[in-house]
This record gives sequence, C-alpha cells and structure tokens, in this order.
Amino acid sequence: MQFQLSEEQLMIQQAARDFAQHELKPGVIERDEHQKFPAEQVKKLGELGFLGMMVDEKYHGSGLDALSYVLVMEELSKIDASASVVVSVNNSLVCYGLEAYGTEAQKEKYLKPLASGEQIGAFCLSEPEAGSDATSQQTTAEDKGDYYLLNGTKNWITNGSTASVYLVIAQTDRSLKHRGINAFIVEKGMEGFTVGPKENKLGIRGSDTNSLMFNDVKVPKENRIGEDGFGFKFAMKTLEGGRIGIAAQALGIATGAYEIALEYAKQRKSFGKPIADHQAIAFKLADMATQIEAARMLVYKAAWLKDQGQPYTLAGSMAKLYASKVAMDVTVEAVQIHGGYGFVKEYHVERMMRDAKITQIYEGTSEIQKMVISREVLK
Ligand code: CAA
Repeated sequence: MQFQLSEEQLMIQQAARDFAQHELKPGVIERDEHQKFPAEQVKKLGELGFLGMMVDEKYHGSGLDALSYVLVMEELSKIDASASVVVSVNNSLVCYGLEAYGTEAQKEKYLKPLASGEQIGAFCLSEPEAGSDATSQQTTAEDKGDYYLLNGTKNWITNGSTASVYLVIAQTDRSLKHRGINAFIVEKGMEGFTVGPKENKLGIRGSDTNSLMFNDVKVPKENRIGEDGFGFKFAMKTLEGGRIGIAAQALGIATGAYEIALEYAKQRKSFGKPIADHQAIAFKLADMATQIEAARMLVYKAAWLKDQGQPYTLAGSMAKLYASKVAMDVTVEAVQIHGGYGFVKEYHVERMMRDAKITQIYEGTSEIQKMVISREVLK
C-alpha cells in the first residue's frame, strides 16, 4: 500500500493551491454576495488544463489521472466552492460522459472545446418532478426520423446560463420505462431552447444555476449519445465519477474551514490564553482533523480505484456520503470556534458552511448514496 503522491501529482496539487490563493481568493466574498459567476477565473482554469483533466490529449485534454483531478478539486474548494463546481461538472459529468460514450464525431465537435475550456458544459438530468427519482423523466424526446423533438423543463442546472453544450436526459419511449430514456447533446441557441432566471441560492452563490426550457427543440439524430435507450445508464455511469468530484469538493470545503479555524484558535485569546489552549476548542480541532483525514482516505481511494480500472460505485458513494457530512459538521464547528466573528462574512467560514450544504444534495443526496451503498453491500 502506497500513501505517497507522485512528483507529478504533487506539482499539480501545488499549482491548484497557488491558483486558489492568487486567483480565487481575491473577490471570493464579493462574488458570493453578488452571485457573480467567476468568468475570468474559469477561463484561466481552462488555460491551465483543469477543465478537461482526465481527457486524452488527442481531444485537447490534460490526460491526467482521477487522483490528480481530486487533488485539484480539493485545493480549489478550500477557497471557492462556486468555482470548483464548474470544474467538477465540466470534468466528471460532461467531458467524461462524452469521452466514454460519445461517437468520434461528437468528440471532435463537442469534447475538444469543452476539454480545453473554450466552452463549458452542463449536465441536465434533474426536473421539477424528478430529482432523486431520476427514472421519472417528464422531458420527452420524440423520434421524428432525422431528429428528436425535445420538450420539457430541467431544474437546478449547474452552468445553466454559461454553458454552450448541454447533455440532456429525456424519455423517448415511456412504455420501456428507464430503458426508453436517451441522452442528447443540445447546443445553446438551438431554436426553442431557453434558459430561465438564475436561482438565488443559500450557497455556491457564485455558480450559475438555472432551469432550462425545451419547446419543440429539434435535436439531430447524430446528437444522441450511445445506443437507443442508453440514456439512463449513461446518467448513472457518469454520476458515479461525478460523485467522486463532489466528495473531493466537500473534502476541500472542510479542510479550508478547518485551516482557518486552526489559525484563529491559535491567535484569539480568552481567559488569558489562546482559545486553542482550552480543551473545549482543542478537542473540536482534534475531531475536525480526524474526520477530514478519514474523508480524505475515502476520496483518494475512490479515485485510485477509478484509475486502476476497478469498480468504484460503492467507494464513490461512500466517499460522497461521508465527506459531505464532514464538510457540514466541520464548517459548523469552524463557525462556532470563531464565535461572533464566524457569523460575519469577512472570516469566510460562514460562506463555507453555506457552501457545504449542497454537497449533501447534488449529484445524489445523502439518502440516495445510502441507497446505492446498501444495494452494493447487500448484493
Ligand atoms: N451503472 C449502470 N447502470 C446502473 C447504475 C450504475 N451505477 N445504477 C443503476 N443502473 C441501471 C440498473 O441496472 C437498471 O437497469 P436494468 O433494469 O437495465 O438493469 C436501471 O439503471 C434502473 O436502476 P434501478 O432499478 O436501480 O433504478 P431506481 O429507480 O431504483 O434508481 C437511483 C436508482 C440510484 C436511485 C437513481 O435514480 C439515482 O442515482 N438517483 C439520483 C439522481 C442524481 O444523482 N441526480 C443528480 C443530478 S445531476 C447534478 O446534481 C449535477 C449538477 O449540476 C451538480
């Protein structure tokens, strides 16, 4: 068993750490306050190769492993989870989905600009009436011969208005239930496709979350991903990797809040000594550090399994379930350690506490992760 990162992984980790400090930290409070998308920063992330990290270089990706991707997600999320969710969705849901299951022509046309960061992608599964119960798709894609006619609404779509390319899941043949679902590549600007207003969210407020409306959108047949009826499996396979990315995001949020709380506890004095010297605070720090380390092991192991070509459904769900709980618990404690200061924006931890919550909801709620885990262990 090896617990040592390679030279290359350490370099990538350091590059992400530097980027987060110098490019994401300035303005992170203002972007959160005004719900401002980090457009400039995302452009630079693309130039660094962080938007198509695991994509083969022949499709303009960086050709790196999943562990490197997780390290980058962790470092970016320590500072700005709104920026890191863009990285996560583009890498694990959109680029991975296209590279693993797209045709050569789809990869040429869509994957290349997405992997290089020239364009951003969105993954569109959730609907007003189909969140956790993802097989209940109400969006329809009627087979019209040369094209599919797409009708319906998608909800809570990350990169909703900034994306250029959307992977949309829809029901083609209701009688076949989930086996009648397909996945399609939809371009912004296709007639009948409109983007709804940006959601006003509790956390990850810098990211862009919208509903999408499809009204008789003609999607060319060649834009279907995989065989007829492959759409639900496509969504599940893609989300398996996505969950590792979100687990890494949760790990990063927890670590970022913990590091701020640790420094604060060493400096802030009460009753004549630093608060870190009071057992009440020291024990909180001990618990936070232990939980974070355990989460890190689960997240890295899930990425490692993916890199080894081994099944990672169970490991990915365990990592997401646990790391997102740790993110929530640790950020709450980080606010508590700061006392009144923790409740105001300048100290960052209240934003991290708000950002942590979504990691227990998107890409499968904690309850869905428990369904996946229990089904796997009961197999
Ligand atoms: N890989 C491959 N196939 C899978 C699979 C997997 N991991 N999981 C399920 N399937 C297949 C099953 O084999 C089955 O197919 P067959 O009948 O042909 O064998 C089919 O999918 C249906 O499976 P289930 O009977 O298990 O379906 P279910 O209705 O019980 O639901 C579920 C399964 C795991 C709960 C699923 O609905 C689910 O994951 N729900 C959560 C959805 C989700 O994560 N949404 C996130 C939205 S995306 C997002 O948040 C992105 C963002 O913007 C940040």
